[in-house]
Amino acid sequence: MATVMNMHTPRPKAAIPFILPASRWDEAHAATLTPAELLLYRSNLLGSDLTVTNFGGGNTSAKLTETDPLTGDSVLVLWVKGSGGDIGSMNLGGFATLYQDKLLGLETHYSGPDDDDKMVGYLPHCTFNLNGRAASIDTPLHSLLPFAHVDHVHPDAIIALAASSGGEAATREIWGGSIGWLPWKRPGYTLGVLLRDTVRANPHLKGVMLAGHGIICWADTAKDCYDHTISLIADAARYLNTKMADKPAFGGEIVPPNPERAKIAADLMPRLRGLMKGNRRKVGHYCDDAETLEFVGSANFERLALMGTSCPDHFLRTKIAPLTLDLTALTDDAKLAEELESYRKAYAHYYDACKRANSPAMRDANPVVVLVPGVGRITFATDKTTARLAGEFYGNAINVMRGAEAIGDYIALDEQEAFDIEYWLLEEAKLQRMPAPKPMVGKIALVTGGAGGIGAATAARLLSEGACVMLADRDTAVVEDVRTGIAAQFGKDVVRAVTCDVTDEAAVEAAFAACAREFGGLDILVANAGIASSAPIEATTMALWNKNYDVLSTGYFLTAKHAWGLLKRMKAQGGTSMVFIGSKNAVAAASGASAYASAKAAANHLARCLALEGAPEGIRVNIVNPDAVIKGSRIWDGDWRKERAANNKVDPGEALEAHYRERSMLKRDVLPADIAEAAYWLASDLSAKSTGNMINVDAGNAQAFVR
Ligand SMILES: NC(=O)c1ccc[n+]([C@@H]2O[C@H](COP(=O)([O-])OP(=O)(O)OC[C@H]3O[C@@H](n4cnc5c(N)ncnc54)[C@H](O)[C@@H]3O)[C@@H](O)[C@H]2O)c1
Ligand SMILES: [Zn+2]
Repeated sequence: MATVMNMHTPRPKAAIPFILPASRWDEAHAATLTPAELLLYRSNLLGSDLTVTNFGGGNTSAKLTETDPLTGDSVLVLWVKGSGGDIGSMNLGGFATLYQDKLLGLETHYSGPDDDDKMVGYLPHCTFNLNGRAASIDTPLHSLLPFAHVDHVHPDAIIALAASSGGEAATREIWGGSIGWLPWKRPGYTLGVLLRDTVRANPHLKGVMLAGHGIICWADTAKDCYDHTISLIADAARYLNTKMADKPAFGGEIVPPNPERAKIAADLMPRLRGLMKGNRRKVGHYCDDAETLEFVGSANFERLALMGTSCPDHFLRTKIAPLTLDLTALTDDAKLAEELESYRKAYAHYYDACKRANSPAMRDANPVVVLVPGVGRITFATDKTTARLAGEFYGNAINVMRGAEAIGDYIALDEQEAFDIEYWLLEEAKLQRMPAPKPMVGKIALVTGGAGGIGAATAARLLSEGACVMLADRDTAVVEDVRTGIAAQFGKDVVRAVTCDVTDEAAVEAAFAACAREFGGLDILVANAGIASSAPIEATTMALWNKNYDVLSTGYFLTAKHAWGLLKRMKAQGGTSMVFIGSKNAVAAASGASAYASAKAAANHLARCLALEGAPEGIRVNIVNPDAVIKGSRIWDGDWRKERAANNKVDPGEALEAHYRERSMLKRDVLPADIAEAAYWLASDLSAKSTGNMINVDAGNAQAFVR
């Protein structure tokens, strides 16, 4: 593992404190809710508060009296969060409902810890009212406790206690014996039994800390349970803040935040991504928040990072340990490759050392979390949301380590325990049930002119198959509007926008750097930004001529040139694709539009030159030639429409659209989505054996037939 550069004497900056949760309970609202809705209300309040639990973490339950649909009898039913749900965003359908008496009866099938997995299989047999929602793996923690309302959450401040050598003493000190302590035990039926027995033997308990994991607590009403959970977390946070006050975290800062860190990340991420091995590409996520910079720049960074994370939630998302890098690896590709290779070897070693006879095959050995002193945290996963969440979970882990070290020594999850969770057969079954990813998942595209008709349609087409897209356009307001619209459809994580005039080399460079920093690199360039103009030769001014050449030739050249370095990095992972949006007029002569048509022809020929030059680099370059895409195109909003209408001696309204439709061989309108479909095909692996080609999408125009 790399050593930290630029060391200097630790600087005494005070540690970042924990944020105290506050009650958000609205009694007037709560008064209108049914018992099940109250459980949902409580769950959503808890789960959507990041000071209370991490994303998707924790589970809640209530034992409610229901009418049995078959017998009409009143029965006690356990409502508990369904498997894989998120209490912050779930709705009532996200709860599993199970007969409480049947759940209690399951104990006859249990003879010891080896039965844990078997017990999970019995849960569906307890289903109440044909509810198909699979119950959480933590269901026994809820069913075996004799309390009406139970919360189990993983707040950073609580895990900090749970993962510290000083945690048990601190628990006694804070709560004076009303909160119990159970040593680490993997979630499952055995943990439920241990918990039940502890509470039976200590009837005064109001909750139990689960070492290395989180807390479980209870109350008689939904509101009391909510208040109880919030106040326990606040107690822990307050206690840790007192212990951390006026002391620097992690032994103090030895590497200050690098002012160039955003640039360094933009440079490093594509290089790392290109060196990842495996059959799927990865998307990156970069974060330089204060907590991360405090940790990666600290004296104790290497020691703690190597220990790995503690809470199973953290560790499942982030892998056993991060890859730590120093600045020398950042500029040396061979060194970077070595670092990645040694990480993969260490992972394979962990797998071999811990595997059991029936363990599933080793999964991806690449690091998920990469930490760089002064720079921050980079995470990689097969899609953007997973990469972002992995980063956020590592942020949680940092908070845990900060708190844990303030009251003792941080304790990471034992390696064999970690392995048994990571390669748990039930976890493997969950992975096997996941649908196959869409074909573009893991791919990153930049679309110039992304605010326009064809650009936005192409972006949407790529996104619909799972790609991440950076929209680049000179029109800031419109590109931001388009981004918002696309984000509403495909999610905020997968689309970004950057203002970029493709005629400005510095802006083009900055756009690719932004793409690299936001997503980790580039697999697809759609060069599309364009304008249209029309004028007879004698009326074509130098300014008009230059404008066409600046945008349509130089603009395509600059985007291709600055995409090149990023695209080349993906050669070993199956190569990349550039798609030029050309024009019918690039192949067919146009009367009264010589500047536009000849500039488009130059760009098309540039594409073919680049196809030749790109082949050894795994870069394919192809062209789509649209014609008369009137609906949805902003080119056709302006003077071009009037000029073309005048040139064709028709009215600029529907008559013009009819004119082009009738002029086409197939007598059909050509829409932005039609161009997008061809661009998608050329961008995707469907066209893996094509380069230097053109596809005309023009409803048929004999003049444009390629010879
Ligand atoms: N619409 C058609 O009939 C047609 C026909 C043939 C070719 N094309 C080509 O298709 C491409 C897209 O056209 P569209 O119909 O979607 O038009 P559009 O006007 O809707 O989109 C073009 C986008 O490019 C942007 N742009 C223009 N100059 C730029 C610059 N210097 N830097 C960055 N962005 C810039 C604009 O702001 C706009 O958002 C163009 O290259 C165009 O030449 C279109
Ligand atoms: Zn848990």
